[in-house]
Amino acid sequence: MITLTVNGTRRTFDGDPTMPLLWFLRDELALTGTKYGCGISQCGACTVHMGGNPVRACQMPMSSVQGAAITTIEGLHPAGEHPLQVAWREIDVPQCGFCQPGQIMQAAGLLARTPKPTDQDIDTAMNGHICRCGTYPRIRAAIKTAAEKNS
Ligand code: FES
Ligand code: FES
Repeated sequence: MITLTVNGTRRTFDGDPTMPLLWFLRDELALTGTKYGCGISQCGACTVHMGGNPVRACQMPMSSVQGAAITTIEGLHPAGEHPLQVAWREIDVPQCGFCQPGQIMQAAGLLARTPKPTDQDIDTAMNGHICRCGTYPRIRAAIKTAAEKNS
């Protein structure tokens, strides 16, 4: 039996320990904000936080999340008012939207560690998060806007 918390709620799992966390979140908890893009750790669509750090849920077997505290996009802020979510709306970042939960979770991990990131910090943190719609300039602008509100 694997026990973990997801968005502050205790959860248990008694199935295949090799199953990816992403399946558990989407198929068993119906937390479908976390997306399945590539399934091979190449796109970032499945990014969630484990213990506050961004991780790719498609590559996290359930056996590795025993005792972990997982946060998904649904749990980032109870009312969707995290500074990044506010900035994302202000700047109208998404196009199709598919990659955006993963982008926001990665950016939230960055701002938690580095409240005032440089362009280089942003590039390094967001590297490997693929947006097929090419919203990269707006993502960067929104991260900067959210960081300004950190002051
Ligand atoms: S679905 Fe996990 S990195 Fe692409
Ligand atoms: S907004 Fe469409 S993939 Fe990023």
